[in-house]
Amino acid sequence: MKRTIVAMPGDGIGKVVLPEAIRVLSAAGFEAEYVNGDIGWEFWCSEGNPLPQRTIDLLAEHRIGLFGAITSKPKNKAAEELDPSLRENGYVYYSPIVSMRQHFDLDICIRPCRTFPNNPLNFIRKSADGGFEEPVVDTVVFRQNTQGLYAGVEWTNPPRQVREALDTHPRFAAFRDVPGEDLAVSTRIFTREYCRRIVTAAFEYARQFGYRSVTVCEKPNVIRETSGMMEAEAAAVARDFPDIQLWSTNIDAQMMWLTKNPEDYGVIVAGNMFGDIVSDGFAGLVGGLGFACSANIGRDVAVFEPTHGSAPKYETLAPSIVNPIAMVLSACMMLDHIGEKERADRIRSAITAVIDEGAVRSYDMIKLAGGPDVIARGAATTQQITDAIIAKL
Ligand code: NAI
Ligand code: MG
Repeated sequence: MKRTIVAMPGDGIGKVVLPEAIRVLSAAGFEAEYVNGDIGWEFWCSEGNPLPQRTIDLLAEHRIGLFGAITSKPKNKAAEELDPSLRENGYVYYSPIVSMRQHFDLDICIRPCRTFPNNPLNFIRKSADGGFEEPVVDTVVFRQNTQGLYAGVEWTNPPRQVREALDTHPRFAAFRDVPGEDLAVSTRIFTREYCRRIVTAAFEYARQFGYRSVTVCEKPNVIRETSGMMEAEAAAVARDFPDIQLWSTNIDAQMMWLTKNPEDYGVIVAGNMFGDIVSDGFAGLVGGLGFACSANIGRDVAVFEPTHGSAPKYETLAPSIVNPIAMVLSACMMLDHIGEKERADRIRSAITAVIDEGAVRSYDMIKLAGGPDVIARGAATTQQITDAIIAKL
């Protein structure tokens, strides 16, 4: 049976890399029908909604989405660019990705960070004898995707009831006399159910793919309640996985250790913000934004996207110069999710071969500053990279 995939290119280079990923999927023999889902800045400006209801309906119906990237801008800038006929209708800009994650409860975010042999962007470190070592990174970050500091429960000048509630905590005494307009509060809310879901997903993945440790990366010594809950749930879940070690690190120390001994970490699990931070940290060791892929998985719906944004300065470059690999790897995660792991592995092997061979490299891989001149300086175009991957298939 042919699958239907909701393809949401979004803005900027999202419109460039998503069609490239579809080209690779087709070349690998994956038969699907793609329906276009509107998302992004254009729909904010013209409709006052960057995630129109019709796109939500498509995702609800087909359940699998491939997503490029969106542009988002600060509140005031967003208000300025809204179509004049819509102004004063009370529209407020809100990130459509965050809305999508929350609407479909896409609470499990997976971000694999793996070294490709011979990638010039791989992390190296000096060895004691003065030489260099290139540790092989194979880390998969599980990030709680819907709660915590990104849940959006926050105020500047909180309403009276909120202030009164905060005042019941003895430690709020230090802030009691701050005028409302000078007080900003962003809450960090965790629930036991969702801590347990993300930790369980991490352990199950570790077992399925043979990782020997799961590291919970929080800060329970300081953020006792939320990080404490994540840690307690990790300890409880770990009892069902006696073959896998449970490690615990603090986010700050983890950011230091990941450049000292990244090869020590297998699966990492963290709340929303720390997961965002630690996954970017590991991604930097294996090539950065051109290689960083992700999955957002809920009970019913799953959406796959590169972690990079819309890179607006490259949107109109012709030919395009951006690296499509992050998007193609995200499409591979989609194949994994729908039971097409063999096909995904075949595409990943093709990517590995192209990188290893080194004949076709995007500007980021040859360490140039992006711009129209990079092609003349030896960089491949986006389409050439896709072609090289397809040729290996
Ligand atoms: P960005 O990820 O779009 O670009 C940062 C830099 O990374 C670019 O200038 C480019 O040099 C490089 N880069 C990104 N993707 C690349 C690729 N595939 N190949 C080669 N180089 C690549 O982040 P930036 O510039 O901070 O944000 C631009 C817009 O994207 C903003 O409107 C921001 O809000 C939005 N954004 C959207 C995200 C999403 O859709 N998930 C995530 C991050 C930012
Ligand atoms: Mg991020």
